[in-house]
Amino acid sequence: MKRFKWLLTVLILLLIIGACSNSSDDKAKNDEANGTAEEAESVYPITPNLDDLDPDDPKTEAILYGEEVFNETNVVMPEHVGNELSCQSCHADGGLSVSSSLVGVAADYPQYRPRENVTFTLEDRVNGCMIRSMNGEMMDYDSKEMRGLIAYMTYLSEGYEIGTAERPWKAPSNKDEIPEPNITAGEELFEKKNCLTCHGSDGSGTGANSGPALWGDNSFNDGAGLGRLTKMTGYIQNNMPIGDEYDLSDQEAVDLAAFILSQDRPVFSGHDEDFPEMENPPSDIINEERRKAIQEGTFDWSEIEAVKVAE
Ligand code: HEC
Ligand code: HEC
Repeated sequence: MKRFKWLLTVLILLLIIGACSNSSDDKAKNDEANGTAEEAESVYPITPNLDDLDPDDPKTEAILYGEEVFNETNVVMPEHVGNELSCQSCHADGGLSVSSSLVGVAADYPQYRPRENVTFTLEDRVNGCMIRSMNGEMMDYDSKEMRGLIAYMTYLSEGYEIGTAERPWKAPSNKDEIPEPNITAGEELFEKKNCLTCHGSDGSGTGANSGPALWGDNSFNDGAGLGRLTKMTGYIQNNMPIGDEYDLSDQEAVDLAAFILSQDRPVFSGHDEDFPEMENPPSDIINEERRKAIQEGTFDWSEIEAVKVAE
């Protein structure tokens, strides 16, 4: 009898979960707009596999150390990392995940960057993520950790021809157009979509690789790529919630993104010198002043070019 009751409870729970999830129509609509996870998985012409590394190749040690630095950045380099994140807090599965991928990346560098008006090496790009996404300090170019990271990402790019790498899966994609966000709805979704299970109800996270900090002292600073509304929206839609990726509508993703970015986070010290060579820097960076205005409900979303304000 006890057993029967237990089964009945499970059955009822399953029915409730079924009723709460998106209707299949909605899901089909979202899949059409965003592509499905299955489609994405078959996307790499060459899929790197660390099991193929030759243990007798002297370079293998650096590649494997690079993988460790990538996956455990805050643990391996606490003196350089200013938060509780690892590189794979955003570039999931050691950079292999299609929706935040670094596969083939080394073949795309050096690269001209209008932001600094300079030709960027892969090392420069890593240090860009160090001072923004990791809220930390630049690494020495000849440090063991930098050599490791470069060796690792170059391994992820083996077989990809330099300068011609076409990477349609290119790392965290932004959205060109987003609806006007509603942060009250975002706060509700944060609970309803279970974000808080892994990221904590106060956004402070449960660990760099189990649910990294989304805001507060241990998160990325507001000079980071994800500090921009279009990038955060795209990232959330393509990567979260884990297990149900590609399932949030544009409205849900932007509501969540705006809610997360309206919360306090470390301030990037280089804002004033950012984009020195660009006439029109991106309009969707959510800095401290904007966070305050959003929290007070006085922010005019039409200041952000990509936001299509409802008439
Ligand atoms: C908080 C999220 C976050 C973390 C943590 C992070 N990154 Fe990134 N990274 C991004 C985003 C977003 C982009 C692309 C968008 C942009 O910033 O222009 C990016 C881009 C890159 C690129 C350039 C990719 C390309 O296609 O040109 C490299 C290389 C990179 N990251 C390496 C790293 C490394 C190495 C670490 C750890 C030291 C790291 N990232 C940590 C979010 C993150
Ligand atoms: C099952 C646990 C889980 C759930 C649920 C989940 N996340 Fe995540 N989240 C992670 C993990 C783990 C990462 C690190 C990257 C990865 O592995 O994909 C991450 C990374 C992130 C990041 C980038 C890293 C950072 O520090 O900002 C954002 C933003 C994010 N999640 C937002 C959300 C939102 C919004 C939801 C709800 C719609 C959500 N997550 C639901 C586990 C989860």
